[in-house]
Amino acid sequence: MSLRLLSLIIAGALGAAEPSPTIIAHRGASGYLPEHTLAAKALAYAQGADYLEQDLVLTKDGVLIVQHDVTLDSTTDVATRFPGRQRANGSFYAIDFTWAEIRGLRVLERFNPKTGKAVYPRRFPVGVGEFRINTFAEEIEFIQGLNKSTGRKVGIYPEVKLAAWHRQEGQDLSKAMLAVLARYGYATKEDPCYVQCFEYAELQRLRSELGWKGRLVLLTGGKTPLLDTDDGLQGIAKVVDGIGPALAAIAEGRKPTGLVERAHAVGLKVHPYTLRTEALPKGFADGRDYFRFLTQEAKVDGLFTDFPDIGR
Ligand code: G3P
Ligand code: CA
Repeated sequence: MSLRLLSLIIAGALGAAEPSPTIIAHRGASGYLPEHTLAAKALAYAQGADYLEQDLVLTKDGVLIVQHDVTLDSTTDVATRFPGRQRANGSFYAIDFTWAEIRGLRVLERFNPKTGKAVYPRRFPVGVGEFRINTFAEEIEFIQGLNKSTGRKVGIYPEVKLAAWHRQEGQDLSKAMLAVLARYGYATKEDPCYVQCFEYAELQRLRSELGWKGRLVLLTGGKTPLLDTDDGLQGIAKVVDGIGPALAAIAEGRKPTGLVERAHAVGLKVHPYTLRTEALPKGFADGRDYFRFLTQEAKVDGLFTDFPDIGR
């Protein structure tokens, strides 16, 4: 019996809410299928992910869609379907298109729009398949449907993308997201949902002005006093439930930096991003070796990965 299976059984017996380590499917099983498609989410679900991630952006008519970039250039056929609709910088922004327009786009494996070449050459081929963008509501219905048919309780992990930018564009992404979460029954810290964002001010706003009572995770990209000082960590622990730092902040080679221990000392969970088998730090034999190190030696509570089967 694997350690993970054993810990799931013990957690179940104790009534604990969270699987440990918590496997978060980053944009679905995006190492195998085009990111954020329902096919990638279904595969991640079948591979045993505990949470499925949704990056959220808004359309012109205020529909929340599951899409990583605020532009559509690198993951859809927008350039051939809507020539002339790009902004002066050459990019096609989701917020300039209605949901009716976006729902007709084909989703493609991520590529470089300048060269047409795959970003990850060993993954699913670019241009193959008939995949579509989904709304946040559609994806939640899909996951809740699978939860009903399987009896599992796989969670959601929505990310508020570029909240300040959306407001400059005249739209309030967080408010739109909270309306959808409320409609589908996500409201408290007992519900299987983590809301994540890189903008700490937006997380504070979600907690206070917008009254979100569920779990929050602060994402960080590089060095920041919010994580680097104990005062910073104590301060954010009053607002958020966990942190999502880049993996580089967890360890240098096989030597943990101490961040996980310091975060745990103030009651914060640690869910770093993103374990990709194509991008392992030096000194690790393969993705499983890195996964074992992160979860058993560095003691992260969970992690984002493009390969949810890696913990199996
Ligand atoms: O949300 C965790 C991780 O996904 C943050 O990076 O750019 O992939 O959304 P990104
Ligand atoms: Ca994300």
